[in-house]
Order: sequence, then structure tokens, then C-alpha cells
Amino acid sequence: MLCGASLTLEPGARVSLVGANGSGKSTLLKIVLGLRRPQRGTVAVFGRVRREESDFHEVRRRVGLVFQDADDQLFCPTVVEDIAFGPLNLGKTPSEALAIVQRVLEAMHLTHLRDRVTHRLSGGEKRLVALASVLAMDPEVLLLDEPTNALDPENEARLVDILLSLPQTILLVSHDAAFRERVAPRVLALSGGCVHQDLRWSAGSASGTG
Ligand SMILES: Nc1ncnc2c1ncn2[C@@H]1O[C@H](COP(=O)(O)OP(=O)(O)OP(=O)(O)O)[C@@H](O)[C@H]1O
Ligand SMILES: [Mg+2]
Repeated sequence: MLCGASLTLEPGARVSLVGANGSGKSTLLKIVLGLRRPQRGTVAVFGRVRREESDFHEVRRRVGLVFQDADDQLFCPTVVEDIAFGPLNLGKTPSEALAIVQRVLEAMHLTHLRDRVTHRLSGGEKRLVALASVLAMDPEVLLLDEPTNALDPENEARLVDILLSLPQTILLVSHDAAFRERVAPRVLALSGGCVHQDLRWSAGSASGTG
């Protein structure tokens, strides 16, 4: 399905990736992190070919993926545990991890969710906690797969503010043209298994030809 899909992100770049349902956007993001393996061919990230599971450890430290489905991301009993999991895994002490949880929740105005049972959160709350769990690991690059799914207008606006305030390089997968325009107006398209510039999606989306 993917064949030679390749894209380059300069540090600090904000790029959107669009494409039809089933074109392979989520698959491509998972392949970058080694969560799915290509049936054929090689994967190169940060200038190095990644083959073995151990090759992807560095990638997963440097790149954070917010999954399209928050239930794929959150697996701990409570929000605080879900957000602390990444920092603990990166070698932080429990008190350091708790301080990070506090900082991230405050930055996202989510402290009220800290001790909630994760699987009982609403869909939108899960999306926000999933993003918080990724930001807690302070990755260099954020891969966001449909981050506005399930968000109400107020939380969507807050998400825009959060993303615009972050220093990270961002690759955004989103079907929402207005959201892309605000967060990552440069658009690449995935079709036929390849990533290419697609001016119809970039300029045209604003004038209704997308
Ligand atoms: N785990 C899997 N095993 C086999 N095929 C899969 C798996 N996950 C997805 N696919 C298939 O791969 C194709 C691409 O799926 P993918 O989820 O990457 O699309 P997408 O571009 O993210 O679509 P959408 O816009 O709907 O999110 C689809 O045909 C899908 O059915
Ligand atoms: Mg997808």
C-alpha cells in the first residue's frame, strides 16, 4: 500500500498530511515509530535505517505519536499513571514524574482530570489526556493523528493555542482544513502510497477547490 512514501521535516517545521480514508496516513505514522513494520522495503528515520526493535528506541524517545484512537494510547487505571508512565519509562524518579504530570496538566488546564479513572473519561477528555501523556515525554517531534477528533469547540480552540505555543516539530494528520490552516498550513498529500506536494489541498482548501 505504501510504496516509497517519504517526507522531510526540518526542525521546528509544521506540516500537515492529508489523504483519503484508508490511504495509509496512520499506518505511515506507526511505521515511523516501528509499531508496524513494512511488508517490504526499509524505514529510515533521523537519517538512519531502522530495522530491529532496538533501532526504534531512539526514534521513540525523540518522536511522540498521539494515536488516532486514544484507547490505543491509554492503558493505565488512572490519568496520573497514564501520564507518568512515559517519564518513568525514560528513567525519571517517581517524584520527578509526578512533577511533570502536574506541569503538563496545568499547562493544558486539565488538573481536574488527574485522579480520574482513564477508561471512564469522555472521548474528548481521552484525546486531551493522550496528548498530555505524549507531551510529558518532551519529544522533539510530535506526530498528531486526527487530534481534533471528539473535541468540543472550546477544547479545539484550546488545542490550537497549546500547539501554537509548543516548540516541537509537528506533523499533523487532519481532515479539518480550518484546523490545518491554523496549526500546520503546509500540506503534503498521501496517495497511491507516496507522499507528494499537493497544491490543491494547500492553497485550494481555503478557496474551496480542495
Ligand atoms: N493492523 C492492520 N492490519 C492490516 N491492515 C490494516 C491495519 N491497520 C490498517 N490497515 C489497512 O491499511 C489501510 C490504511 O489504513 P490507515 O489506518 O493507515 O488509513 P488512514 O489514511 O489513516 O485512514 P483514515 O483517514 O480513515 O484514518 C486501510 O485499508 C486499512 O484497512
Ligand atoms: Mg488514520
